[in-house]
Amino acid sequence: MNALLETPVPAVADDLTLRRGAARVLLANWRGGSTIPSRGLYPHQWSWDSAFIAIGLRHLSVRRAQRELETLLAAQWADGRVPHIVFNPAVPLDAYFPSPDFWRSSRAGARAGAPSAIETSGIVQPPVHALAAWLVHLADPDTSRRRGFLARLRPRLAAWHDYLTGPRDLGGEGLAAMVHPWEPGMDNSPSWDGPLSRVEPIAPQTYRRADLDHGRSAERPTDLDYGRYVRLAADYRDAGYQDTAPQAFAVEDPSVNALLIASEHALARITDETGGDPTPHEERAARLTEALVRRLWSAEYGMFLCRDLVGGGLVAERSAAGLVPLVVPGLPAPLVETLLTTAKGEGFRLGELPMVPSYDLGGHAFDPSRYWRGPAWFNINWLLERGLRGHGLDQEADGLRDAMLRLAGASDFTEYVDPHTGAARGTRDFGWTAALTLDLLAARQTASASRGRTAGHFGTSHETPPAPAGERERSQV
Ligand code: SER
Repeated sequence: MNALLETPVPAVADDLTLRRGAARVLLANWRGGSTIPSRGLYPHQWSWDSAFIAIGLRHLSVRRAQRELETLLAAQWADGRVPHIVFNPAVPLDAYFPSPDFWRSSRAGARAGAPSAIETSGIVQPPVHALAAWLVHLADPDTSRRRGFLARLRPRLAAWHDYLTGPRDLGGEGLAAMVHPWEPGMDNSPSWDGPLSRVEPIAPQTYRRADLDHGRSAERPTDLDYGRYVRLAADYRDAGYQDTAPQAFAVEDPSVNALLIASEHALARITDETGGDPTPHEERAARLTEALVRRLWSAEYGMFLCRDLVGGGLVAERSAAGLVPLVVPGLPAPLVETLLTTAKGEGFRLGELPMVPSYDLGGHAFDPSRYWRGPAWFNINWLLERGLRGHGLDQEADGLRDAMLRLAGASDFTEYVDPHTGAARGTRDFGWTAALTLDLLAARQTASASRGRTAGHFGTSHETPPAPAGERERSQV
């Protein structure tokens, strides 16, 4: 039974109200060149947030969506890495921890090519950017071509993927490795409990968590986890952000690598559009897909798992990261079928619960409220919706899309929800929740206008109808 039926369901906002609400969040979070994820908890620019935000922003203002990605990529390091945070110097240092004076990127990262005039963090986040750039282009190809949007971004996106497949191939088997739990974006996923247990936490009195000023501690990572996050970040910084130094934490994550593959396909299209040869990117996407299956598929678990490069072996935890490879276009059909069975099974209950949880509902570490240890997130569910649709699973995709839209509207565009009840958790007016709401609304409108014609995997232009003229003009920058 659908658990939502067991709890009072708030009135369903109609599409126009939902669209206006989402637009209001994005306009309020806009900071002149990029969008903050939230006005209290995350007051700077975050890398994968910006990519998801650009995907939604393109329905409000194509120029602003382009700008979002341009601002982020302007902070790219010379070694190709795109930092996970670009700091706004106007924000007080104590508003967010770790602050720029912790990362000290312009000095500590100088050898790795950190920019001298912009302060950033020194770690990365999942590579959703080429995918976002391609979708932003498709929203208005004429404006994109006139402004040379893709031509300017292409070399930066290519350098970013070169960094991930080069210096970050720490396992030497063709996949990108992540060296901090903040990098795959799912900070306190139970998949990191084992790999993190070897890390000595930094003493709690040496720093102050700013996140607890804005988020309830029961919905945030624990102090013990934070001590380990800070230790890893400080050690990486003190080694000059060099990837040749030994890492205490190094994992291959299926979600990160699946997004890299989807983005590599997008980069092939971007290269083709800008007059280059897409073949090397298609070939790299195929190599990455082969490596993803070879290194991270578990027939026993019926899904992809993370690989611990320090301790060795696959991590025996089922997290939603292991379902995200549904976004990979060329995934072998038997694997798609198995992933669907796993997603519909006891652990994730796709189609039965409103949204897919971040972690196995029956797992020993499941917690319905605590950040990435169970709550359902809108970006992950958006990826699953796109993935299901890309493999022709429209019925499942439609159900997920409609539930996401219902919960986004009912929860004030919350950061994440309790997967059983749909109750809001984390912060409200969250950037990517609002942005992906706009994207799903646009896709639903197009699908109903074309009587069920589906968008397929990312990147077909009929999935991006222009916004109603009035709203577009109002938000044009
Ligand atoms: N997600 C982390 C935080 O909560 C860092 O990116 O601050």
